[in-house]
Amino acid sequence: MAFGSLEKLGLALLIGFVFYIVKCIVNLVYTFIIGPAINKVDFKSKGKWALVTGSTDGIGKEYARQIAAYGCDIVLVSRSMDKLKAVASEIENEFKVNTKIIQADFSEEGIYENIAKEISGLEIGTLVNNVGISYTYPEYFNEIPEWEKTVSSIVKANVVSVTRMTRIILPEMEKRGKGVIINIGSASSIIPSPLLSVYAATKAYVDKFTEGLEMEYSKKGLIVQCVLPGFVCSNMTKIRRSTLLAPTPKAFVKSALSLVGTTSHTTGYFPHAIFVNTVNTIYSTFNGFGVWLVTRSMENSRRKYLKKKQKSLA
Ligand SMILES: NC(=O)c1ccc[n+]([C@@H]2O[C@H](COP(=O)([O-])OP(=O)(O)OC[C@H]3O[C@@H](n4cnc5c(N)ncnc54)[C@H](OP(=O)(O)O)[C@@H]3O)[C@@H](O)[C@H]2O)c1
Repeated sequence: MAFGSLEKLGLALLIGFVFYIVKCIVNLVYTFIIGPAINKVDFKSKGKWALVTGSTDGIGKEYARQIAAYGCDIVLVSRSMDKLKAVASEIENEFKVNTKIIQADFSEEGIYENIAKEISGLEIGTLVNNVGISYTYPEYFNEIPEWEKTVSSIVKANVVSVTRMTRIILPEMEKRGKGVIINIGSASSIIPSPLLSVYAATKAYVDKFTEGLEMEYSKKGLIVQCVLPGFVCSNMTKIRRSTLLAPTPKAFVKSALSLVGTTSHTTGYFPHAIFVNTVNTIYSTFNGFGVWLVTRSMENSRRKYLKKKQKSLA
């Protein structure tokens, strides 16, 4: 039976589609099931200490706790001394490891000399560049409250911190020929993100920076990974009740940490991978509809926040 040219085109498209679906499934199965089972990383073997920035709440605190569970001593770096002391004592008591606390505000730039001094001599085998800040609510670029201060803080905490902390810690890792660097980006940088333009752009930097760093240093024995989460319950998102798409930091970090050594670029959590793929498929297939959908959802969040704020002021 001979095929006409339209039938041949249809068949080619069908084969391409099936190939794409199979590739996605194989990729997901390897990343989330096979890889974690065969590529287990022993964080303590990479160095006695792990350093986590923004480590007194949310995702950062969970990285600190779950890496401490491997027996690593932990350096905690955040702004609030009370929270630092509380988390340090919680980790010491629960995991029987040592901790060191460093008070630093990553929305400022003059902090790195002191951080370098405080950790000099410590064998840091794992660095988690977690600290990151966003707008208080989704907003149009021109309407961001306290524009200069907010934008400058976001760039310093999200872009400068990752670069400068890596510069402090990487040289010793390179000398030892081992180490793990985990940079926390955001899914907002790989899906359309109106009303979060500055935040999402800073996270795109984290993504690209990590990609290059991984290419440069994986051949020298280092593991470098960018984690790009979707929504996670935390102070930043103000999501309190966990759902399948917005897990607790504990569930999220358990999943993300299991992927170290398997993938250098990941959402960290299976439902977030599905979410990102779905949004991007809608966006690339029906561009206008995708933009409308995401913009509408962000505008709704903005409206809700501003309404609540207005009520609280009345
Ligand atoms: N939660 C999400 O849905 C989500 C999604 C995608 C990406 N992320 C990324 O994940 C990372 C952690 O987010 P999170 O939701 O866990 O945040 P979070 O719950 O708000 O915790 C932020 C942590 O960073 C510290 N911190 C905040 N500003 C700081 C500053 N200027 N200097 C030093 N420390 C500071 C906070 O402690 P102090 O207040 O004591 O300083 C706290 O320990 C961020 O990079 C964020 O962009 C989060």
